[in-house]
Amino acid sequence: MSDIYFSIFETDFYINEILKVWEEGKKWAEWIDQLKKKYNLGNKVLDVPCGVGRVSYFLSKIGYDITGVDISEKMISLSKKNVEKGKFLRGDMRSLKSVIGNEKFDIVINIFNSLGFLSEEDDLQILDSIKNSTSGIAIINLDNRDYIIYNRPENYYAFVPPYLVENYSVFDPFSSRMKIKRIYKNQKGEVIGSLEYSQRYYSLHEIIAMLKKLGFKVLDVYSGHSWKKFDVTDPEMTIVVTAF
Ligand SMILES: C[S@@+](CC[C@H](N)C(=O)[O-])C[C@H]1O[C@@H](n2cnc3c(N)ncnc32)[C@H](O)[C@@H]1O
Repeated sequence: MSDIYFSIFETDFYINEILKVWEEGKKWAEWIDQLKKKYNLGNKVLDVPCGVGRVSYFLSKIGYDITGVDISEKMISLSKKNVEKGKFLRGDMRSLKSVIGNEKFDIVINIFNSLGFLSEEDDLQILDSIKNSTSGIAIINLDNRDYIIYNRPENYYAFVPPYLVENYSVFDPFSSRMKIKRIYKNQKGEVIGSLEYSQRYYSLHEIIAMLKKLGFKVLDVYSGHSWKKFDVTDPEMTIVVTAF
C-alpha cells in the first residue's frame, strides 16, 4: 500500500472533514435500527471502516454491540475516545480475517463512500472480506457516480471550520476515477496545507455486479439513509445485501 494513500487518513484536515458530519451518524444509527427490526437481526455490528466512530457512537448509545476496524491509527484512537463501550481495532478491511478472525456479525456497515481508494480488485477483496464477516446483512453506502459526474462542480469553495477549503476535482471517464485536490486555508486566506488523492466512483449496476459475483443477494437499494428507493438522480446509493 502506498504511503501517500495511507497518510491522507492520518491528517487533521481529513479528520476534520469527517467530524463535520458527526451528527449524521445519529440519522444512520436510527435508520440501521429500523433495518435491524425489519430483518429481525441481532445487535452485533461491525463498522468498517469506522473512521472517528460517528455511527458507532450513536449505535452504541441505543444498545448495539460494536466492533470497529480502520486502517488509520489516529481514527482508531479517536473512535476509542468517542465510543466508550465499543471494541476498535486497527487493520485493513481487505483482509478482515487477519483482524477479527472468523467472527461473524449480524450487521456489517461500510458507510460514507469508503470504497474506491485503491483498485477495483482491492474493492472486490473488501467486499469479499465483508461477506465472510456477515451472518445477517451488510450495508454499503456509496456516492452515485452518475449523479457526481453531472452535478459536482470541478472547482468550489467550502467553509469547514476552522478551514476554508478550495476543492478541485477532475473526472476521468476511462477509469471512472476522480482526481481530487483540496487546498486548506486559514481564516486569513493563507494556504496551510493540501490533500490529493484519486477515488473510483461506481454506478449502481457496477457495484451490484461485483456483489453478485461474490455471492451476495441484493435485498434493496435506498437513497442515503432514507426509505426512498434509489434512482439514478440520487447523490448516494445505499445497498442492503445478505450473504444467504
Ligand atoms: C470516508 S471515511 C468513512 C469513515 C466512516 N465509515 C464514517 O462514516 O465516518 C473513510 C475511512 O476509510 C479508512 N480506510 C481507508 N482505507 C482503508 C483500508 N484499506 N482498511 C481499513 N480502513 C481504511 C480511512 O482511514 C477512513 O477512516
